[in-house]
Amino acid sequence: MAQRLDYPGAANWSVDHIPYDQINRDAVHGDEQLFFVIASASFVEITSDLFTRSLAGFFADDVELATWLLESWEPEELQHGEALKRYVKAVWPEFDWDRTYEEFLVAYRPLCAPELLASTRALEMAARCVVETGTASFYRMLAHSTDEPVLKLIANNIRSDEVRHYKHFFHAFERYRAVEGTGRAAVLRALLAEMAEIDSQDGYLAFKYVFQARNPGRKFDASDYAAYRERIRDLARDHFPTDSAIKMLLKPLGLPAFASRWIVPPVTAATRLLVLR
Ligand SMILES: [Fe+2]
Ligand SMILES: [Fe+2]
Repeated sequence: MAQRLDYPGAANWSVDHIPYDQINRDAVHGDEQLFFVIASASFVEITSDLFTRSLAGFFADDVELATWLLESWEPEELQHGEALKRYVKAVWPEFDWDRTYEEFLVAYRPLCAPELLASTRALEMAARCVVETGTASFYRMLAHSTDEPVLKLIANNIRSDEVRHYKHFFHAFERYRAVEGTGRAAVLRALLAEMAEIDSQDGYLAFKYVFQARNPGRKFDASDYAAYRERIRDLARDHFPTDSAIKMLLKPLGLPAFASRWIVPPVTAATRLLVLR
């Protein structure tokens, strides 16, 4: 298998070349839901470096993978956060991104402890495949759902990075699955656990802090997040690339197509795969 050839290169875009001065602000400024989605995503993406340390440490003796994580993956994820952050600041300057992010970070940091990694390397790589599937699908949905050209450009740039990340993690997964003899049932358990974890941590916390900053004096309630998720589901119904997400998830499982019926509910409840690291 020509794995080397399949390894994609580095990102071919730079946040410094995004034409933020050409944003059609009127088209997006009044869209509160979009604001929450992009601000939350910017928080999680720009915090990727916290998680990279744990992950690179877990693979420290796999020099090729550890190097890629630190020198390619991390800077690219950080650039996703930076691109979204600049977009938020350009469109919603009334939102204090920096202060709100600091508050979020205090709550988020403990969740990136090393013990949250999967029990084996193969399973951790399977979990990474889920996350990259989620982010790739999310940015594809975002690009598809907006007519604002600068946001579309950013979302498409990020999406292509996430697909490359998925491929890289998938190759590593195959390698470790062979070495560790990982069975399908263990992979499935790890994938479902990863989806549940994403659901309960990243998106929820990011939304909570963005919401609190956006609604000063109002106490955040779990029902606010539930309402947000409901609106995301509406968006996903029209724009979520369910088929490609299923293919990306079934591949590491090594399961036949009929198993997709099992995978569809969590995938289409797209919040579980949305604003991820
Ligand atoms: Fe990303
Ligand atoms: Fe990624």
